Amino acid sequence: PRTFFFTRHGQSEYNTRGKIGGDSGLSPNGMEYARRLGKWAKERVCVVDGKEVPARLWTSTLRRTKETAQFIDHPTIEAKFDDGFQHDWIQMRPMARRNLDELYAGSCDGMTYKEIEDVFPEEFKARQSDKLAYRYPRGESYMDVILRLEPLAHEMERTREPIMIIGHQGILRILYAYFMGLKREDAPYVSIPLNHVLKLNPHAYGCKEERTCLLS
Ligand code: G3H
Repeated sequence: PRTFFFTRHGQSEYNTRGKIGGDSGLSPNGMEYARRLGKWAKERVCVVDGKEVPARLWTSTLRRTKETAQFIDHPTIEAKFDDGFQHDWIQMRPMARRNLDELYAGSCDGMTYKEIEDVFPEEFKARQSDKLAYRYPRGESYMDVILRLEPLAHEMERTREPIMIIGHQGILRILYAYFMGLKREDAPYVSIPLNHVLKLNPHAYGCKEERTCLLS
């Protein structure tokens, strides 16, 4: 079966201050998670057609996911193309993908939930009553995120290579709900805790899941 590894970035400076969005780097705790993930990532080798294949590594374009990827090594592997003749070597460098960037909170980017409630009380209420459809002023909704992740989810459906995604809670909620077959309405409430790696094996009748906590 195919294998996907999902993890959020390690704790960021903004996480420690309760702020959403932004583009901050990792806190010391987040750096520790990155180091542990680097060691653990040796397990990103999976067996496909009897051959050991390391997982592709995808991050978002934001600092906190790239910093979380920094201790994962990039093996060079031999790639055999379909014509059966050409051989090449590819280095498994992380690929930063913009559609993996966190749900953009627009005018509320960089605020705490308390600040949003004080400054934009109507917005705060509207989001609570329909989290899936609610769009931040000048920002995005979970529905927008579902749309921008669709091509990526289809790419993941087609590939046979294992993939490891270092992403964000909002983004991983949607991908998780997609592969686990959850209802869209429930996706914005899925808990994707920090410091865990989720391993998903989608198969014909569902999806097997394993969670590993690397730092508590
Ligand atoms: O840090 C913020 C989360 O990634 C998204 O959280 O959609 O539950 O506000 P929320």
